[in-house]
Amino acid sequence: MATPRPPADRPLRLGVLGCGNVGSRFVELVDTEGQSVAQRTGIGLEVTRIAVRDAAKPRADFPDQAGLEKRLTEDAASVVVDPDVDLVVELIGGIEPARTLVLRALAAGKPVVSANKELLASNAGELLAAAGVAGVDLLFEASVAGAIPLVRLLNESLAGEHITRLSGIVNGTTNYVLTRMSEDGLEYSEALGEAQQLGYAEADPTADVEGYDAAAKAAILAGIAFDADVVASDVFREGITNIGPDDIAFARRLGYEVRLLAVAERTSPPEGETGSSRHPGISVRVHPAMVPQTHPLASVRGPFNAVFLDGAAAGELMVYGRGAGGLPTASAVLGDVIDAAHHLREGGRGRAVRRRAPALTPMLALRTQYYLSIDVLDRPGVLAAVASLFGEHDVSIRSMEQVGLRGEARLLFITHSALEADMQATLRALSDLDVVERVRCMLRIFS
Ligand code: HSE
Repeated sequence: MATPRPPADRPLRLGVLGCGNVGSRFVELVDTEGQSVAQRTGIGLEVTRIAVRDAAKPRADFPDQAGLEKRLTEDAASVVVDPDVDLVVELIGGIEPARTLVLRALAAGKPVVSANKELLASNAGELLAAAGVAGVDLLFEASVAGAIPLVRLLNESLAGEHITRLSGIVNGTTNYVLTRMSEDGLEYSEALGEAQQLGYAEADPTADVEGYDAAAKAAILAGIAFDADVVASDVFREGITNIGPDDIAFARRLGYEVRLLAVAERTSPPEGETGSSRHPGISVRVHPAMVPQTHPLASVRGPFNAVFLDGAAAGELMVYGRGAGGLPTASAVLGDVIDAAHHLREGGRGRAVRRRAPALTPMLALRTQYYLSIDVLDRPGVLAAVASLFGEHDVSIRSMEQVGLRGEARLLFITHSALEADMQATLRALSDLDVVERVRCMLRIFS
């Protein structure tokens, strides 16, 4: 469908869906910065309609109440097909009704900018295909890591790059919690309570601490880095709730920081197949890891996010910044809006994407080194029984330390590189051993 170009002598009219934390900051940014954006970019912008669930709800934090109220509507479906809306900005969040509204906007020939992580982590393939058919942009920089330019970096600056691995700290809440546990010895629950008070963590912190938020971001990033249709449920996921300050202190003594990492990497093709004969495998995972203190990701502290890329030609590269918050996220939305508006005025659109079904390498087929902490009864023969279980499952111990605990002992192991399937079998066997009181914490070592 050919999209008519809006005349150059008037601002582009934006229909915004949602006026929550990001939506209200975005509208404010366009209202206050619109003129300076127009001077710098030649693109005039104007928010003409704002769809909300409840137009009567007070929005006291918005400076121009009257200006806001006259643009509000509860009819989102009419905004996406309104001939007086040139471009749709979807800031509702969640899958429905956002998915249907975005598809309708695209079908009506309107470019869409979205900050919707859940939607992009589950339906990116469908939405990008719809944008391709309509010949308009679907841009979603703000769906991952707030103000950090990752989507554009991967899609444009690194479009010719063969990315081999992407490793990131993409959840500010968990990074804040782990930093406080590491630097100040706080227990997990204390650090989480503090993150909630500061507004980093939700009252129900499950999405952050169990890694769901990071897994959705990992799926979006892996999809772009590898042109593959990766969805959040493809991502192996473990959270941070089993980690104690002792584990972090032990890791630090060995020269590591504990971080919740999202990793997406190319893996070798399955045995018997050559890399050139098929789409190579990829692994996408989120789990806490021991990161060497010499690695740049180990220096990312508090609520900050960062993503470290390994490219075949570009080598190593890292981006760092604020991964959440209304204003940083609104800034990323505005950047996309200016890009889409430019394409609308001048013709053309962002890079067309052809996504393939991903060949996912199962977690159990990966190899890494492990840290393991277990509590055992402190009596003769226990260490030998525990150590023999590692050997029986082909996991070689590199080092071991014992800490006494009134009748019990805590054993801290570092293994040599082992197959995940073998390590999981070792963990099951240890849990079944009656002298083992508790398998406390297992961490993978990032290298
Ligand atoms: N809750 C997320 C974080 C931000 O702590 O990073 C939204 O994705």
